[in-house]
Amino acid sequence: MRVLVTGGAGYIGSHTVALLRARGDFVVVLDSLELGHRQAIGDTPLVVGRTQDQALVGQVIGDHRLDAVIHFAAYKAAGESMRNPAKYFDNNVYGSLCLIEAAQQAGVRRFVFSSTAAVYGTPQSLPVGEDAPLGPENPYGESKLLVERMLRWFDTCHGLRSVALRYFNAAGAALDASNGEDPRCVQNLIPLVMNAATGRAAKVLVFGTDYPTPDGTGIRDYIHVLDLAEAHARALDFLAQHDRSDVFNLGTGKGASVLEVLREARRASSVDIVAENTARRPGDPSAVWADNRKARAVLGWQPRYGLREIVETAWAWNRSHPDGFA
Ligand SMILES: NC(=O)c1ccc[n+]([C@@H]2O[C@H](COP(=O)([O-])OP(=O)(O)OC[C@H]3O[C@@H](n4cnc5c(N)ncnc54)[C@H](O)[C@@H]3O)[C@@H](O)[C@H]2O)c1
Repeated sequence: MRVLVTGGAGYIGSHTVALLRARGDFVVVLDSLELGHRQAIGDTPLVVGRTQDQALVGQVIGDHRLDAVIHFAAYKAAGESMRNPAKYFDNNVYGSLCLIEAAQQAGVRRFVFSSTAAVYGTPQSLPVGEDAPLGPENPYGESKLLVERMLRWFDTCHGLRSVALRYFNAAGAALDASNGEDPRCVQNLIPLVMNAATGRAAKVLVFGTDYPTPDGTGIRDYIHVLDLAEAHARALDFLAQHDRSDVFNLGTGKGASVLEVLREARRASSVDIVAENTARRPGDPSAVWADNRKARAVLGWQPRYGLREIVETAWAWNRSHPDGFA
């Protein structure tokens, strides 16, 4: 296939670009480089620009005769979105609208979208299936749900077929430690733990030790970035084989607590990572994990990696690149 990957120089995008190219797809990356890195994509053709630039998007699709789009480009910090919702509605919703319209007008019929488990908000039951009630609890999650809804209308009105992939907690790094998440701007538990292991941070804060979970700390579903990349390739194949749109959860189907993550990280790094217990953060659910049976059944996808490989690959990347690509 011939694929435009927006946000392809970012964390999940760059791993996906590597996998697509390894299987023979032709890829062009569109990235503002605001949060991404040229080094993360090697010699992949890169256009530095924004999804909002419809003329540019149309020109890139036409010049390279691209027939599919994978859309990663967005801001992803839920906490920041509560302080600055306009930033998220502007980039994630308006930026996506511009891209979707330009792609549709340029003749693209296949579109894969990075959505998130944040569209569900606090789950009412576990595991979380695709038919669980939707109730984002921050502008970030709302921005992703709005784009899912726009895509449904572009399907109905223009025949643009799309797959929305709702990721749970992306983590881990390339198996050869050549690529991983930028340690300089992280909000998620595993990179924060890595920063404490490399000495970039003094300690890890454990928010809440009195949750109704076996060890009292919060439980999340950590999914390896390489498993996410594989799911994007399968989503493109799905769109080539089926004339319809769909939505899939991407998680392992198993949760891990904060203390389990810390235990794995101390083992992998041999560093006695300092953790400090503190109060719960308002709005944090006690436990979230995915029902991934639909992605398994329909996409033929299954996660290959678990918490151990996630932490080991993240540690190898962080140890060898304590400042990321800087
Ligand atoms: N990391 C996670 O745990 C997670 C979980 C669920 C969903 N997601 C979604 O997956 C996608 C990728 O996440 P990531 O972790 O790789 O983030 P990232 O910040 O590493 O990558 C995003 C990339 O998009 C680029 N970008 C942002 N706005 C742009 C725009 N308007 N035009 C062009 N480029 C733009 C940035 O420069 C960056 O390279 C995002 O849409 C995010 O919301 C991530």
